[in-house]
Amino acid sequence: MDLLADQRRCAVAYGLRLVGAAAFTAALWLAGAAPAAAAEVARQGVQAVPTDATAYPAGVVRQPALASQCMPCHGPNGNSQNPDWPKLAGQRQPYLLQQLQDFKSGQRRNPMMDAVVVNLQAADLKTLAAHFHAQTRSQLPSPAARPPGAAVHPAVASCTACHDNAALPGTPDLVGQQQPYLAQQLRAYRAGTRKNAIMEPLAKGLSDADITALAAYYSTLAPAAPARSR
Ligand code: HEC
Ligand code: HEC
Repeated sequence: MDLLADQRRCAVAYGLRLVGAAAFTAALWLAGAAPAAAAEVARQGVQAVPTDATAYPAGVVRQPALASQCMPCHGPNGNSQNPDWPKLAGQRQPYLLQQLQDFKSGQRRNPMMDAVVVNLQAADLKTLAAHFHAQTRSQLPSPAARPPGAAVHPAVASCTACHDNAALPGTPDLVGQQQPYLAQQLRAYRAGTRKNAIMEPLAKGLSDADITALAAYYSTLAPAAPARSR
């Protein structure tokens, strides 16, 4: 059965991927006792969580227990495999913390995240924000012929002025984020279902075509060298 494709399609994924994560934990535990059995469980564990094979085993070993419960949706190392779900890896820490606090307080609503934060304490939110900030965000290959930002949309310069500004650490890093996720969030601000005093009025000025272009632009933008300020 194509577990990987199934997992990407529906929320049942959560349960299935937890089974995968549990299998992997079991593999670690078995490693001391029965190497052959452990190898088999590990093989199944890797299959159950779609990933790039090099990153996953290292990431799982390093994941604190708190963060491993995020992996089914946000992916190994915080790089979600589902384009509708955001990557957390490398995201600015104050922004991550603010979003977790907003889910917890009900300021930002999402059925999946609501179910997650209900079990987290204030200190857990800080630990998780620090953990995912420290992971490395995976990047999509940039298109060979990339038009300059201004050609994509006249607002790009103003978007980047906030979103790539070290002085505004509460502003999320958009570079390399999942494209459908970015578009979906811009539509949510435009519709007022995601509340934010800055982004709501800005998004109201964007057409569907603007949103598609901006999401495509940021999702494939190469990170600035040498190190982006986060
Ligand atoms: C069942 C799937 C699922 C699980 C498990 C899950 N998340 Fe999420 N998470 C989502 C979805 C879906 C969104 C996007 C919500 C939206 O559209 O507003 C999200 C959004 C977020 C965001 C906001 C990202 C941004 O760029 O604004 C943060 C932060 C976050 N999750 C952290 C976590 C952490 C930490 C855990 C583990 C403790 C976790 N999530 C577990 C599905 C999940
Ligand atoms: C004045 C500063 C500012 C400008 C200009 C701005 N943003 Fe934002 N943006 C923010 C802040 C702050 C947030 C976080 C809001 C929240 O907590 O929901 C945000 C959130 C977002 C998000 C959600 C990211 C995520 O991970 O969930 C997207 C997408 C986004 N902005 C895109 C844009 C685009 C595209 C433009 C240009 C049209 C733009 N922004 C212009 C400050 C700005």
